[in-house]
Amino acid sequence: GAAKPVIVAIDGPSGTGKSSTSKAVAAQLGLSYLDTGAQYRAITWWMVTNGIDIEDPSAIAAVAGKPEIVSGTEPGNPTITVDGTDVAGPIRTQEVTSKVSAVSAVPEVRARITELQRSLARSAEIGIVVEGRDIGTTVLPDADLKIFLTASPEARAARRSGELKGADVNATREALIKRDTADSSRKTSPLAKAGDAVEVDTTELTLPQVIECVVTLVEEKRAGK
Ligand code: DC
Repeated sequence: GAAKPVIVAIDGPSGTGKSSTSKAVAAQLGLSYLDTGAQYRAITWWMVTNGIDIEDPSAIAAVAGKPEIVSGTEPGNPTITVDGTDVAGPIRTQEVTSKVSAVSAVPEVRARITELQRSLARSAEIGIVVEGRDIGTTVLPDADLKIFLTASPEARAARRSGELKGADVNATREALIKRDTADSSRKTSPLAKAGDAVEVDTTELTLPQVIECVVTLVEEKRAGK
């Protein structure tokens, strides 16, 4: 009969190559892909666009159920819409990036987004790679394989400023550390390594090496090792 769908959770801070790795692993193995950071960015974009006071968690909580967020799960075309509007571009602005930690710390926001994530994972036929901060610990604690990607702050800042053309490395490093600290210290499901996650330090690895490492781990799981 058909094999049981394989669920892969990939967590870690930004600049570890999480998105590139997750997308490539899903594409190589024919699995679906979900970028949960994009969902938190999308709800943040909606809050900003609708003039919600980001400093006020109760104002955020009151409208957390309003926007309809739809994620496409094709690794080659990971779309994201809010109330039917394509927000793939706008969710990457500096304004959204600087506000997403505050919005994603609100428990009502997390409950809403977590439910979306579980329903997408349940409906994946072959399997899915889900990337984020709390996937292995909270969203999908029964995932078949949990990966926790790390890298030195210097390596992460260098990668991020390479992505954001012309950005200052020091300023990028400060902003990135500030966001990681906020994400790791919030009360509701902070960024954390699950006890049963495999930690992969990517500081000295190239992207193809990280991809190969994760693909091998998934294949071993599927083979029942
Ligand atoms: O992966 P990213 O940088 O696009 O994520 C944006 C923010 O979303 C991140 O700073 C914290 C939040 N996030 C979260 O709280 N939980 C997740 N599973 C994924 C992202």
